[in-house]
Amino acid sequence: MAKKPKFQSPTGMHDILPEEQKYYERIYEVVSKMADFYGFGKIDTPIVEDTDLFSRGIGLSTDIVKKEMYTLKTKGGDSLSLRPEWTAPIVRSYIEHGMYSKPQPLKLWYFGPCYRYERPQAGRYRQFWQFGFEIFGEDNAVIDAQIIQIFYNILKELKLKNISVEVNSIGDSNCRPYYKKLLSNYFRSRESSLCSNCKKRLKENVLRVLDCKEEKCQPIKVEAPQIIDHLCDSCHAHFKEVLEFLDEIDLPYNLNPHLVRGLDYYTNTVFEIFSGKGDIKNALGGGGRYNKLVKLIGNKDIPACGAAGGVERIISLMKEQEIEVGKVPEIQIFLAQLGNLAKRKSLRLLEDFRKARVRVAESFGRDSLKVQLNRADKIGSKYTLILGQKEALEGVIIIRDMASGKQDIVKLEEVVAKVKKKLK
Ligand code: HAM
Repeated sequence: MAKKPKFQSPTGMHDILPEEQKYYERIYEVVSKMADFYGFGKIDTPIVEDTDLFSRGIGLSTDIVKKEMYTLKTKGGDSLSLRPEWTAPIVRSYIEHGMYSKPQPLKLWYFGPCYRYERPQAGRYRQFWQFGFEIFGEDNAVIDAQIIQIFYNILKELKLKNISVEVNSIGDSNCRPYYKKLLSNYFRSRESSLCSNCKKRLKENVLRVLDCKEEKCQPIKVEAPQIIDHLCDSCHAHFKEVLEFLDEIDLPYNLNPHLVRGLDYYTNTVFEIFSGKGDIKNALGGGGRYNKLVKLIGNKDIPACGAAGGVERIISLMKEQEIEVGKVPEIQIFLAQLGNLAKRKSLRLLEDFRKARVRVAESFGRDSLKVQLNRADKIGSKYTLILGQKEALEGVIIIRDMASGKQDIVKLEEVVAKVKKKLK
């Protein structure tokens, strides 16, 4: 067995090799077109932020803040963390740049890497890419439905099959405290049957018990009180409207009373998108409304709603479903050269082809004609252009039809046009 190289990419982080890039590019293309259509402006934020922004925004009791942040001390003594997600940084930027004084709703989208110190496994990495959409300054339920619709559309546009949307409402500061009390009472009376993790969750954030995937907790969860029965009037009306909008656009969804999400900032609508039905596979994306986060971070009472998708998880599903992407057009021309003058002229000729948008392969580093012709054969080029010392001196070039072996000699300045014509 080959010895492992001394240096490898950090655990849970991966190189994106040339053959993988087409997936990222395809997703970027679909996401950016969708963003453009729905009027979102693109935003980038620094890859690190003040650690407090995340602890405050995402919540001190969340797994992300408690266990998963990459935190560093700068030489100046500041504590910065690699972003585990984009929403808190975007809220920070929205406030910092006074975007609330622009016409609302203000819509932003993004695409880039995030970092979470998770236990690496299939679909769970320490560096992963997210794309996302955030809408500020509008409380209407149509926005929640539109965010869900955008994510659904993106996955459909990527030709993914068996997509299922799960939705729930987790109420707000009006109705949630009472529900949490009910839930605590319920789970406490069954605490001895819960898994050890849930026992901890029961103390820190009882809603997260609903999110437990352990087998032994499932029968207890099923019987637990559901928030939908305890929403206050305004949360109930808001959720009903979201569902009506989804019905209106024929977007299929499942109500999932156990969906609570792993970040603390949500109010009202939460949703997640999965591949396949009802299994506990990793979510492809998720989000919801977060009406109190702008206040929490920037002291402004501004409602907001958004979601993010996981690029690697989507790519893995695209591969699983054998979805073809970005077939790079074949290279049909190979440019072979022999001798110093020919090499110089070939460099210039390659530029002429690039400007004319004709793809040409070459092996300028090789001097043997035989090696170059072999390479032309290997890549399956239709025509090979041969520029030897004699041709270079005479200002001509040979066009060789690789299938028939037939050769034409043409003037150098005409070769681009001639080749273009042949390729039509
Ligand atoms: P999230 O559910 O933590 O939400 O992440 C969104 C998506 O990122 C997940 O559904 C998943 O596809 C992907 N993801 C998360 N962690 C990993 C990981 N370790 N490895 C691979 N993929 C991962 C958020 O981040 C919220 N900021 C979404 C949001 C935006 N809510 C409102 N606006």
